[in-house]
Amino acid sequence: MRNFDFQNPTRIIFGKNTIGRIGQEIRRGGHKLILVVAGSGSIRKNGVHDAVIDSLRKSQLTALECWGVQPNPTLAKTREIIEVAARAGVDAVLAVGGGSVIDTAKAVAAGVYVDDIWKLFEDRKPVMRALPIYTILTLSATGSEMNNYAVITREDEHKKWPIGGPALYPRVSIVDPSVQSSLPWEQTVNGAIDTISHTLEFYFQGGGETTLALDESLLRTVVSMTDRLQKNGQDYDARASLAWASTLALNGLSGTGIGDGDWATHGIEHGLSAVCPDVAHGAGLGVLFPAWILYCQDANPASFERWAKNLWNADTVEDGVAAYRAKIKAWGGAVTLKELGVKEDQIDTIATSGFGTGVNGVIKKLSIDDVRRILRSAFA
Ligand code: NZQ
Ligand code: ZN
Repeated sequence: MRNFDFQNPTRIIFGKNTIGRIGQEIRRGGHKLILVVAGSGSIRKNGVHDAVIDSLRKSQLTALECWGVQPNPTLAKTREIIEVAARAGVDAVLAVGGGSVIDTAKAVAAGVYVDDIWKLFEDRKPVMRALPIYTILTLSATGSEMNNYAVITREDEHKKWPIGGPALYPRVSIVDPSVQSSLPWEQTVNGAIDTISHTLEFYFQGGGETTLALDESLLRTVVSMTDRLQKNGQDYDARASLAWASTLALNGLSGTGIGDGDWATHGIEHGLSAVCPDVAHGAGLGVLFPAWILYCQDANPASFERWAKNLWNADTVEDGVAAYRAKIKAWGGAVTLKELGVKEDQIDTIATSGFGTGVNGVIKKLSIDDVRRILRSAFA
């Protein structure tokens, strides 16, 4: 077990009917003019927007709303919102949505303090200054509600890069799992696969038994709760357990005593969704993680064999991967790049973009040729 520092300053308010508390939470922070960041309108249909605005109004807060953040959020949209935020002089940022909305809100919160937000991505230094960030989570997947990362795509250069730093932890995040019953099934699956992938990025490094056992528990819970939701999308307890597993998978806890994680698969997936923005992050990981496992298993065989045995009751890593792929298929997800609509002649561009994230693995340090081979093996 490795030494570690663990601190997570985000306060989580979790459960049914909790969204109405956001006004008093922001008010307690001493803020008055709030920038509300939102996506394409799902929060209008499921009542979340009304609940948020009502709560802000009751706490005598003024809301300035910026809509239209897309999945795989862009630098252009981030810049547009930074301008609005800076011009208005907002006191805090409230993200209402999934990971794309939260990440955009985080980048905006940091962006008001710098001349060019993209420079923060290029510098790869910790972000130390940002407006206070609050979130209402509507899709459990990324863990962004309780971590200090944001991922944004610079479209003109096919770069989907992360920023991180102490200033990017939300102060308060509200997770009401009941509002996720309006999710299309494939988004629930994408969230489950992203959560599994976050856990695996740490797990395969091996480490202290406490965290490995916690990670196995998260992995099992995600699979069984997603199975339950496939039968009944209104199953609140399954939705809530999946949501909490998703937060825990990337809030720092799932890596304690293990290390910083591998993250090569995430780097490659960010390349994939930078080049093919219609590919959802979780869907891309469902294709790439099994391919990466098969390619890298010799680098740390005991960990991969343990995963196959403990998660899938399989005697070989190949059988474990086959079982994981079968589960993704049973959920209706894709297991090849071809199914995601990727063209074979895009593989080189994806490899270059994914390799350019600079996140090229710890368990096995990948060259760009390794990345190409992994992508080719995942093609069909
Ligand atoms: O645009 P709206 O109307 O909000 O609709 C969204 C969007 O179309 C919809 N949705 C969200 N909640 C809903 C809902 N529809 C119905 N009912 C609800 N309750 O779902 C669609 C996808 O939303 P999005 O925010 O894109 O999904 P997700 O939460 O999976 O976020 C993915 C983004 O986060 C990044 C990914 O790369 C990707 O760009 N990540 C962020 C990380 C982080 N900050 O720590 C780590 C991750 O590894 C990941 O890279
Ligand atoms: Zn992810």
